[in-house]
Amino acid sequence: MYSDKTITLNNGIKMPQIQLGTWLINNDDVRKTIRQAIEVGYRAFDTAKDYGNETGVGKGIWNSDVERSDIFLTTKLPTAVKDYEGTKKAIDDALDRFSLEYIDMMLIHSPQPWIEVNRTNDRHFEGNLENWRAMEEAVKAGKIRAIGVSNFLEEDVDNIVKNGSIKPAVNQIEVHIGKVPKELMDYCQQLGILIEAYSPLSHGRLLNERKVREYAKKYKVSAAQLMLAFDLQLGCVVLPKSDNISEMKDNLAVNFKISAEDMAELIKLKEKVLTLSV
Ligand SMILES: NC(=O)c1ccc[n+]([C@@H]2O[C@H](COP(=O)([O-])OP(=O)(O)OC[C@H]3O[C@@H](n4cnc5c(N)ncnc54)[C@H](OP(=O)(O)O)[C@@H]3O)[C@@H](O)[C@H]2O)c1
Repeated sequence: MYSDKTITLNNGIKMPQIQLGTWLINNDDVRKTIRQAIEVGYRAFDTAKDYGNETGVGKGIWNSDVERSDIFLTTKLPTAVKDYEGTKKAIDDALDRFSLEYIDMMLIHSPQPWIEVNRTNDRHFEGNLENWRAMEEAVKAGKIRAIGVSNFLEEDVDNIVKNGSIKPAVNQIEVHIGKVPKELMDYCQQLGILIEAYSPLSHGRLLNERKVREYAKKYKVSAAQLMLAFDLQLGCVVLPKSDNISEMKDNLAVNFKISAEDMAELIKLKEKVLTLSV
């Protein structure tokens, strides 16, 4: 059962393979969501400074009955910060917002500030190394247990691997039926960098799509479970977001295998084609 499965990062630390995403859950509501998620069995949570809910996520964790050491918490730097001093401050500010003594994993959220994404070719190689240097120091200081990246392409990953002293533990990127960046995934996996699949349910877009429903029916599972099993079988960690208890349970209860033949068919599907067939 994937709900109990942990995966080992390249620094030896273990984390759950199914984690709760918290994007778009507001700071007031997320505390209750985290509490409910812990009750139904989640032990890992993904947030970010840019989601505006770190304070609530922290409250949800320290108000729960579960030991802090049994929870795996990931957050991300604000994308606008690309300098060493700013990164050091951002890490300390995140710890304050969570009211926790350490963060399990911190990611560079994007190689480019949001405002530049798809608008400039500046990959901020220097800035990302400044982020990385401050994050490495935070690991040595015991403030963070693991560090990684998100939305990084091959050249961005290369920059960190060649110039940093700690290898990224993960690259968190969008992966789901309809969108499989195979070359980037293979590249990272060969380097020992784990892929975390964000928007594993395509942000909800493909859950009612005909082909997804057909395959879900074949395996007698929900469309969400089919989409999660697909990513899990590609070796990814998945971060399904839900603030609804029955959906949270559904997303943890992935307990079947998609055949190799069906995986080969599903991997070929492209979101553009899929959405035409809804
Ligand atoms: N690093 C990055 O740049 C980045 C970017 C995007 C996302 N992320 C992370 O990845 C997480 C997940 O991605 P996401 O939030 O884009 O979307 P997602 O998890 O792919 O999909 C969420 C949508 O699916 C619905 N849903 C969840 N479980 C369901 C189920 N069992 N049956 C039917 N519908 C279900 C949710 O509905 P309800 O809302 O009604 O529960 C919501 O509308 C984020 O929360 C965030 O932590 C990271």
